[in-house]
Amino acid sequence: MTAVNATINHPSFGDVPPGRVIIFDTTLRDGEQSPGFSMNFEEKLRLAEALEDLGVDVIEAGFPIASQGDFDSVRMIAEKLQGTVVCGLARTAPADILRAAEAVKPARRKRIHTFVSTSPLHMKYKLQVEPERVLEMTIASVTLARNHTDDVEWSAEDGSRTEPDFLCRCVEAAIRAGATTINIPDTVGYAVPEEYASIFTMLLERVPGTEKVILSTHCHNDLGLAVANSLAAVRAGARQIESTINGIGERAGNASLEEVVMALRVRADSFNRANQVTTERILRTSKMLASITGFDVQPNKAIVGRNAFAHESGIHQDGVLKNAQTYEIMTPESVGWAKTSLVLGKHSGRAAFRDKLKALGYADIGDNALNDAFRRFKDLADKKKVVYDDDIVALVDDEVMRGNDTIRFVSLEVWAGSKGPQRAVLELDVDGTLQKAEAMGDGPVDATFKAIRQIHPHDAELTLFSVGAVTEGTDAQAKVTVRLSEGGKTVDGQGADTDTLVASARAYVHALNKLLVKRLKTAPAAMTA
Ligand code: KIV
Ligand code: ZN
Repeated sequence: MTAVNATINHPSFGDVPPGRVIIFDTTLRDGEQSPGFSMNFEEKLRLAEALEDLGVDVIEAGFPIASQGDFDSVRMIAEKLQGTVVCGLARTAPADILRAAEAVKPARRKRIHTFVSTSPLHMKYKLQVEPERVLEMTIASVTLARNHTDDVEWSAEDGSRTEPDFLCRCVEAAIRAGATTINIPDTVGYAVPEEYASIFTMLLERVPGTEKVILSTHCHNDLGLAVANSLAAVRAGARQIESTINGIGERAGNASLEEVVMALRVRADSFNRANQVTTERILRTSKMLASITGFDVQPNKAIVGRNAFAHESGIHQDGVLKNAQTYEIMTPESVGWAKTSLVLGKHSGRAAFRDKLKALGYADIGDNALNDAFRRFKDLADKKKVVYDDDIVALVDDEVMRGNDTIRFVSLEVWAGSKGPQRAVLELDVDGTLQKAEAMGDGPVDATFKAIRQIHPHDAELTLFSVGAVTEGTDAQAKVTVRLSEGGKTVDGQGADTDTLVASARAYVHALNKLLVKRLKTAPAAMTA
C-alpha cells in the first residue's frame, strides 16, 4: 500500500481512511485578518456555530496572542462548540504557544497550529535567521505545543517557495517532534497545480513519517488558482484542505470552502474523497458571513453567487426546463438555494414565520429577536407585494445583529428633494432613554448622519457608504453598509429596510455600536498569512 492509500490514525479523528479529506476552516483567522473583514466577539461566535452546523472538521478560531479580543473569542468558541476541533494559531515563540494553548483549553477537541517561515526569502528578510535556527524553532514549538494537546499542526510558511531539501528536513523534524498535521502553505499564491501537487508527492516519497500524518493544503488566490492547487494536492496525497467561506482571506483570499467541497462532491467520480460538510447549509453560511462583514460575493461567484444558478439565455432556459442537467451540474437545492424563494404573506402568523426561520437556518433565534423580527416582517409584508427568503434573511440578520446594542434606531423623518434644505428628525433609544435630534445636511443621508452625531457625539470618520438591493424590483429592501474608522479601529455596520434612508440610519447606528465595544486589536510584528 502506498502512503497515498494508507489509513492514518489521528488523535482527533481516529482512523482517517484514504477516501476521507479533512475540511479545515480558517474564515475566522485568515479570513478575519484581511482588511474590512474584522468581526466582533458575538459575530465570531455566531459564525463558529454556523460552521459547526455546516460540518467542517476543524475551525481555526483565531490567533490568540494577537489581542485580548482574539484570545477571548477563541476561548469562547472553544467553550461553546460541541465537538468540532477548535484550533488556535501561534508563531514559534513560547508565549504564542502558551497563549494558544490557554485559549483552546476548554474545547472538547483542540488543536494548536504553529508556523514558521521556511523559504529563503522569508528566512533572510522577514525572520533574519539562518535555516538551522528555523529547524530549532520548529522542533521547540512543536514539542511545547504537544505538551498541551496531542493534535498539533505545523506549517511551513511560504512552503511552496521553499528549497525542497530544506522543506523535507523541516517536515521530518516537525513530525519527529510530534506534529500530527503538516501544512504546506502557498502563502503568496504563486504555485501552479502540477508544481504544488509535486511538493506533496515529494514529501510522501522522501520524508519518513509522512505516511502517518495528515498532509494539508493552504492556498492563497493571488493567481486565481487556490482551489485548483488545493485539489491538485489532494490528488497527490493531501488529506486536509484549509479554506474559507466565500474565499475571504489575505489579499486575493484563500481557497473557497464552498468551491472545494462542491468540486469534491460533484466530481466524486474523479476525486473519490468524502467529507462531512452538509452542503445544503453552504448558502446560509455564506450569506451569514456576507451579512456580518457587509461584503456580498460577486454575482457570478461559483456556488453562492446570485447568478450561480440563473439561466438568462433562451436556449439555456429551454434546456433547463426540459432537463435541468442540460446546464446544471448540481442542483441549487444541494447547496441551499430554495426551490422557490417566494415566502410568507401579510396574513402569515408567528408559527409559520418561526418555521420559515428554521428552514432558513435560524433555529435558535431568541424570543426577543423573534418578536422584533416578526413585527418588522409584518410591516414589510404591508409594504412589499412579495416577501422573498432573502428579505427575511436581511431582516432577521438586522435584528440578530442588534442583540446587545446600546443605541437603537427608533424612527426617522426626512425632508429630501432638489429644492432643499434637506432635513432629518431622528429618534434613537440610548441605553433605554429616548433621544431626539434634528439636523440639516448636504442631502438627506448627511442630515441623518448629522442627527446621529448630535445624539451621540463621536470623532469616527465615515470611510464607506454602500447601498445594494436585497432582491429585485422598486419595492426591494435596501441593504446599506457603513464603515466607520476611529483611532486605528475600523468597523462595518449593516442595515436593511424598504426605505434607503432608514436602512442607512440603521447601518450607521449598527457601526457605532460596534465601535463602542471594539477592543483595540494590535497584530504582533512579523505576522503574515
Ligand atoms: O498563508 C499562510 O502561510 C498562513 C499560515 C499562517 C498558515 O496563513
Ligand atoms: Zn494564509
